[in-house]
Amino acid sequence: MKSQENTNVQAKRGKFIAFEGIDGSGKSTQIRLLADRLRDEGVSCYTTMEPTDSPIGSLIHHIMTGRIKTDNRVIAGLFVADRLDHLLNEVDGIVPKITEGTTVLTDRYYFSSYAYQSVDMPLEWVIQANSQSREILRPTVTIFIDVDPDTAMDRITKNRFSQELFEKRSRLAEVREKYFQIFERFREEEKYVVIDGKRTQEEIAEDIWNAVKEYFVL
Ligand code: ADP
Ligand code: TYD
Repeated sequence: MKSQENTNVQAKRGKFIAFEGIDGSGKSTQIRLLADRLRDEGVSCYTTMEPTDSPIGSLIHHIMTGRIKTDNRVIAGLFVADRLDHLLNEVDGIVPKITEGTTVLTDRYYFSSYAYQSVDMPLEWVIQANSQSREILRPTVTIFIDVDPDTAMDRITKNRFSQELFEKRSRLAEVREKYFQIFERFREEEKYVVIDGKRTQEEIAEDIWNAVKEYFVL
């Protein structure tokens, strides 16, 4: 009887799908397309992102746009705090949503911290600092949309060149390499799929659908 109850609770829980990739890889586009498709199939679905629009997330946005200056270690800590609030917030937290049976699609989760923050500080520190989030909730599956930095830069900025863009391109190249190193490291523990993001939106959406549909009873 008890195991039957457990099975029912598991079946009722929503799925949690994290999207990862360098800036401009097409995450938000694909989240929109997947959410539409899931809703068409009758799946209750909520989309969200990190950094969030909470007070902690707003602080991160102010730092990233240069309005507030601080150290990289401070930003890393803020991402950790923003993520925990993203999970646990009583009003719109991910954990309450999943528990009530809603599927959650997030634009970025802890793999973003692993890849982006480990460029400036030790990966071990970043993993340890995010260990609470990972204990609380691991994604059902992480979708990594892979594009090369030039394609990403073309999509983000059209026909502009500046030192700043040059720096951004080389940072995106570093972050992409970090993603691959990290996925290799977590190969046994995490479920992830690498999707070729250098195709049409429709082709990519179809691949993503084929990667996730097994998690839904449709
Ligand atoms: P991200 O959320 O990963 O930063 P977006 O989904 O916002 O990426 O996409 C960045 C830009 O690239 C947008 O202008 C979007 O319309 C465009 N874009 C998204 N997917 C593709 C694609 N497959 N091919 C060409 N352009 C795309
Ligand atoms: P955003 O404007 O939302 O970009 P995107 O549409 O590409 O996701 O800004 C998110 C930026 O924050 C992006 O450059 C990645 C960075 N970031 C981190 O460095 N660490 C993190 O933990 C997260 C969630 C994001």
